[in-house]
Amino acid sequence: MIIGLLTGGGDSPAINGAIRAIVRRAHAGGSEVYAFRQGWLGVIDDDGGLLSADDVSGILPRGGTILGTSRTNPFKIEGGVDRLKETLDKHNIQNLISIGGDDTNGVARRLCELSICRCIGIPQTIDNDIPGTEFSIGYDSALNIVVEALDRLHTTATSHHRVMVCEIMGRDAGWLALLGGLAGGADIILIPEREFSMDDVCEHIRVRGERGKSFSIVAIAEGAKPKMLDTQITQDESIDAFGHVRLGGIGQVLAKEIEKRTGYEARTTVLGHLQRGGVPSAFDRVLSTMFGVRAVELLEQGSTGLMVVWQASEIRAVPFHEALHRTRVCPDHFVKLAELFS
Ligand code: F6P
Repeated sequence: MIIGLLTGGGDSPAINGAIRAIVRRAHAGGSEVYAFRQGWLGVIDDDGGLLSADDVSGILPRGGTILGTSRTNPFKIEGGVDRLKETLDKHNIQNLISIGGDDTNGVARRLCELSICRCIGIPQTIDNDIPGTEFSIGYDSALNIVVEALDRLHTTATSHHRVMVCEIMGRDAGWLALLGGLAGGADIILIPEREFSMDDVCEHIRVRGERGKSFSIVAIAEGAKPKMLDTQITQDESIDAFGHVRLGGIGQVLAKEIEKRTGYEARTTVLGHLQRGGVPSAFDRVLSTMFGVRAVELLEQGSTGLMVVWQASEIRAVPFHEALHRTRVCPDHFVKLAELFS
């Protein structure tokens, strides 16, 4: 069997671990892996080739994706799906593994529904917002970066008696800000799941001051919404092929408001793409390896339309529709836990 492979959407550490595992497991079972460059774009443009054992040797600790990525949506390009089908036919690819978030795997789901090819998805996003899996590839690595950043912000915040606002990725789900904030001892955690009040944030900082705490650390997700604006803060008006705007700027807005209302000096750090780069954590390396192996096994068994997931310390598979029907937001018990510590 020839297994098509692509990586799409925003990258993260540990994708290469999955690519390596897919090639190793495929070769062990007598299959080949035909990898496409730049996500779905490579399938449309017939840009790819077979991966050898040498191609994937030594890539486990490397961040990013050796295949490149894009946010190309074949269903939004005229003739995109026909060209994609021609490429798959040309290389005799009836089985495919897509590594990405809901957008990339959403395309794979539609290809299955249209009986264009058999697909298995691997969840990969630092946002960790794919339902059905407790962990997506990249989340744990990014979480460690957030925690290190908060630790570093703490020391300078105490020296200068400042409020340090740390803007963290997370569009509609605040997994990185919430668990990163908890692990990094943030004093205030603000996530998209709960609109926040500027008054409450500033009051909290004032009360901390009265208790002798002359600094505060605020962990805020880029998608967090202040009640007074009732909207997310965006960088510009542009929208990608899957309909997403570019978020960013809420940290600055909040820091200015804090300075104005509390008199404390405030600074903003936007972690941005630092969260998506660098070496993968040990957990992510293991997770991506297990996901990659299971994805090949499922195709060998003739399965299709599934996403491999991590549930209760086991690798399982769920139908695409169960994994892609909504955004997986932080549940109330996590939010309450964070409130207890802020
Ligand atoms: O893939 C998810 C994500 O990390 C979001 O949290 C963030 O808004 C987005 O990617 C930014 O992606 P880019 O700058 O690559 O378009």
